[in-house]
Amino acid sequence: MTNDALKQQAAETAVTAVRSGMVVGLGTGSTAVYMVRALGQMLADGRLQHICGIPTSEATARVAQKAGIPLTTLNDRPQVDITIDGADEIAPDLALIKGLGGALLREKIVAAASRHMIVIADGSKRVPHLGTKAPLPVEVIPFAQRLVTNYLADLGARVVLRLRDNHPLITDEGNVILDCYFANGLENPAELAARIKQQPGVVEHGLFLGLAQTAVIATRSGIEIMGQALV
Ligand code: 5RP
Repeated sequence: MTNDALKQQAAETAVTAVRSGMVVGLGTGSTAVYMVRALGQMLADGRLQHICGIPTSEATARVAQKAGIPLTTLNDRPQVDITIDGADEIAPDLALIKGLGGALLREKIVAAASRHMIVIADGSKRVPHLGTKAPLPVEVIPFAQRLVTNYLADLGARVVLRLRDNHPLITDEGNVILDCYFANGLENPAELAARIKQQPGVVEHGLFLGLAQTAVIATRSGIEIMGQALV
C-alpha cells in the first residue's frame, strides 16, 4: 500500500466523526485534500447535510469549492465543531509540528477555535519526540526577518528561510517562514514555544501543543487511533 493510499485511509476514517450541521475546520496539505474530497462525496451522496467548512488556506478553499463544500469564515462562525488536519510530526502525547505546507497560522487559529481536533496521517509522521524529522516552521513578518533569524539562532536553531521557485515563500497572510532545525530535536517544546513567542515579529510557530484530541494514523497493519476515540 502506498503512502498516498494510507493518507486517504486516515482521512476517510476521520470524516466518519463529522455530523450533519457541523462547522468543520478544513486542514491543509496532501492528507487534508483526501479529507476534503471525502466530505464533498458524503455531501453529494446525502450521508451529510448542511455542513460548512472553514478552510485553513487558500489552497484548501479551492479544493473545497471544487468538492462542493459550502464555506464560511471564523468571523461568521467563530465556534468550530471539529477540525481535521494533517501534521508533520506527531508525538505520543499528541503534541504536533505543523507547517511544512505553509499554512500553520490559519491552521492554528482554526484548531484553537475548535471543540475537537483530529489529526490524520500515515505512520511515518509518528515520532518519539518532536523535532527529529521535521524542522519547526516559524511564521514571521518580513520586516523583522533578520532580527527573528538571529533570535532563533540564539535559541540553538539552524535557521533556513523557506523558498519557493528561488524566492521567499509568502504565506496566505503575507509573511515569510523560517524553518528551524535543532540538532537534537526539541528537548522542551512548551518552553521553546513560549520563548519563540517572546520575540516581536514572530507571528506564530508550528508547535501545536494541547490542541489535538485524536490522531488517526494509517499504517500498513491497519488504522491506529491515538487519544480520544472517534465517535
Ligand atoms: C500545512 C501542514 C500540513 O498539515 C502538514 O504539512 C502535513 O502535510 P501532508 O499531509 O501533505 O503531509 O501543517 O501547513
